[in-house]
Amino acid sequence: MFSETSPEISEKELKEEKVKQAFEDLEVEFSWDKNPKILERLAETNEHFADAVAIAKIIEQSWEESEGGLNKKEMLLCGLLHDIGKSGPNQADEETRTVIQKLFIHKNSETSPTLPIAEFLQKENFTDQKYLLQILKEKLNIKPETESMITFWRRHVDWTWDILKNNSTQEITEEVATVAASHHILDQKNPANLDIDNIPESAQFLEITDKYILLTLADKYQAFIERNKKSHNEAIRAIQKMIEQSNLSEKIQKKYFTILKKIHKQNIDI
Ligand SMILES: [Fe+2]
Ligand SMILES: [Fe+2]
Repeated sequence: MFSETSPEISEKELKEEKVKQAFEDLEVEFSWDKNPKILERLAETNEHFADAVAIAKIIEQSWEESEGGLNKKEMLLCGLLHDIGKSGPNQADEETRTVIQKLFIHKNSETSPTLPIAEFLQKENFTDQKYLLQILKEKLNIKPETESMITFWRRHVDWTWDILKNNSTQEITEEVATVAASHHILDQKNPANLDIDNIPESAQFLEITDKYILLTLADKYQAFIERNKKSHNEAIRAIQKMIEQSNLSEKIQKKYFTILKKIHKQNIDI
């Protein structure tokens, strides 16, 4: 047998390497040494990061730099960072983060995420339910008996905002943080406090791309919408409905529709 001479690579290091590689493949430069927390958190979000990479690939194909908007590299960075909040708030300790990351799982699409967290966990047969609920209460001040699972899941954009705002660097500018955290405006989540009559096109673009990916690739977080892959046309119809049912102005809705059309046209083969 060959003797093992190279030092063992831990699972954590492997995941971190994958993150770095994805940035490299997309030619997005990032000073990892100055941002160890960002690397750690992206690696922790694992399959959510894989969705983020799929989103970045659409951005690469479809985002045209418009005057005053983010440039392509910045947009790619927003795509890669947008769900970093699925790892938990900026200050969360390791134990809390592990619990949060476990809770982004939806095993059975029959279980409605509008149920309170406690009930949802029971229906989904989570192990260690008592422990999970206790961490939510004690470490995050969340009331699992009254807060719905979907409300909990949507907290991830607050946490993306929290992490990016508190770890700003030359790459993570205020604008990048704002756009990355503003991808659930149609779901009435607005952590960066944008004027909803003037949502930047880059944020709208990211949101529509995110919804498009979720609906066509079937994501665990939003599997409640539809667990099975939708056809592109079905996905488009579902997103159209979301836009129409939002409380946004006609002008802003129109902009969402334009972006949707464009993404659909260019990514028919993904
Ligand atoms: Fe998200
Ligand atoms: Fe996402």
